[in-house]
Amino acid sequence: MAAQIEDIGACVFDAYGTLFDVAAAANRCRDELGDKADELAAVWRVRQLEYTWLRSLMQEYVEFWQVTGDGLDYAMAALGIEDNALRERLMDSYMVLDAYPEVKDVLTSIKAGGIKTAILSNGSPKMLNAAVGNAGIEGVLDDIFSVETVGVYKPHPSVYQMAVDGLGVEAGRICFMSSNAWDAAAAANFGFRVVWVNRFGQPQERIPGDPEQVIKTLEALSPLLGL
Ligand code: LAC
Repeated sequence: MAAQIEDIGACVFDAYGTLFDVAAAANRCRDELGDKADELAAVWRVRQLEYTWLRSLMQEYVEFWQVTGDGLDYAMAALGIEDNALRERLMDSYMVLDAYPEVKDVLTSIKAGGIKTAILSNGSPKMLNAAVGNAGIEGVLDDIFSVETVGVYKPHPSVYQMAVDGLGVEAGRICFMSSNAWDAAAAANFGFRVVWVNRFGQPQERIPGDPEQVIKTLEALSPLLGL
């Protein structure tokens, strides 16, 4: 199959929303959350991300686990839910979110094609290792890069630079996948070749950086790479 994205030395993946389903935690607690599950998941995710951006601007970095808990506390308060046991259950679930069904096969085929694979994520090493172990994909990943190393969140350029330095592959030969439109845009602006995995049919963000390809799930990635 002819590759549309050629001369790639490494495929680098965002974690949350791209490899791992961030709605899985609220889904698993649907028995208790009832019809509040979807709204809780949505408010939780938005606040979690907003807190990463705000803390980065404030130069008040704390690890993603705390930001995730703070986002959940806000979401529960906004929905009028007060329940410590439920909070604990949701956080425990977040530690081992489900991978999307196609993830393992796609990573396996990329590695078999001789291309390096890595995760580049806001997640703390503990969270990423737990999710990777739960999904059984540690054997098909060359590296896991966490923002913990640079102490600032995406989309700060120093985060994307970690993959260049860590993999020893120049930015123009790194193919970066994210389902988060803002992450995809920022990574393209940094200089990566970007495939936006638009799982949720979102409109494009109005910030600098244009992804070169848009797909709906990672299944469509291998053909783009000629695999
Ligand atoms: C991450 C967030 C952006 O994994 O989903 O970095």
